Amino acid sequence: MMNATMEYMKGKTLVISGATRGIGKAILYRFAECGVNIAFTYNKNEEEAQKIAEDVIKKFGIKACYYPLNVLEPEQYTTLFEQIDKDFDRVDFFVSNAIIYGRSVVGGFAPFMRLKPKGLNNIYTATVLAFVVGAQEAAKRMKEVGGGAIVSLSSTGNLVYMPNYAGHGNSKNAVETMVKYAATELGEFGIRVNAVSGGPIDTDALRAFPDYDEVKAKVEEQSPLKRMGSPEDLAGAALFLCDKTQSGWLTGQTIVIDGGTTFK
Ligand SMILES: NC(=O)c1ccc[n+]([C@@H]2O[C@H](COP(=O)([O-])OP(=O)(O)OC[C@H]3O[C@@H](n4cnc5c(N)ncnc54)[C@H](OP(=O)(O)O)[C@@H]3O)[C@@H](O)[C@H]2O)c1
Repeated sequence: MMNATMEYMKGKTLVISGATRGIGKAILYRFAECGVNIAFTYNKNEEEAQKIAEDVIKKFGIKACYYPLNVLEPEQYTTLFEQIDKDFDRVDFFVSNAIIYGRSVVGGFAPFMRLKPKGLNNIYTATVLAFVVGAQEAAKRMKEVGGGAIVSLSSTGNLVYMPNYAGHGNSKNAVETMVKYAATELGEFGIRVNAVSGGPIDTDALRAFPDYDEVKAKVEEQSPLKRMGSPEDLAGAALFLCDKTQSGWLTGQTIVIDGGTTFK
């Protein structure tokens, strides 16, 4: 028997950025399991994107297409959505998930005294400006189908100190505020906008931290649940926030999923 979530989600379309790995990939699979068609983006890992698309098409009988996107150039969302219009008949959900790393965060992922405008600007562009343009394009399509849901990923690095994380934490604060403004102005179109904020989650992004082992040990010690978070721990929240049958009056909020670490 189909439950209410499955019934509501089936045949709808999710657009998600950065779903080749980590949290984005877990969200993609969680939605695909519910019969949601998926338009997702990659940056460098086209081969992985192809594998994921083939896998979910085979396993869940949905439609899945992948597209290149660089969130350092948020305007790319405009042409991306035009392409998605050709491949999908509707857009119901948008998850802004992609995050930059490596060279482009130099001067942004650093101790306070080594922060540089360029690195900080890159993180702001990839986190906040990409969310704005992506959500605008998604909202135009959602209006046409009577509503939808938008989710931005955030992180508890704006609530608790994390070494080198000033640039990211600051931009996550900004995107959470942007979420509230978008929610307030898009509600009349049946569009809900929320954020999912994660504590440290075991992904490539975190493994790239120079102090990864320390962070991991600290989280395992600090969390009342005595473990790191997994990408799947956030995927359920993203599904919940998009599922109108479960969260229909929830908008402009951030759900914190931190294994209880933030309070300690
Ligand atoms: N990991 C954590 O501890 C944690 C905690 C809380 C919140 N978050 C948030 O959750 C989200 C996902 O993080 P994650 O840990 O899953 O990251 P991840 O494993 O490093 O994956 C990053 C994704 O972003 C894509 N990407 C990289 N550079 C890009 C660019 N310039 N333009 C467009 N896409 C790009 C990658 O695509 P390719 O593979 O094709 O390069 C990949 O799909 C982020 O918003 C992050 O801040 C993470």
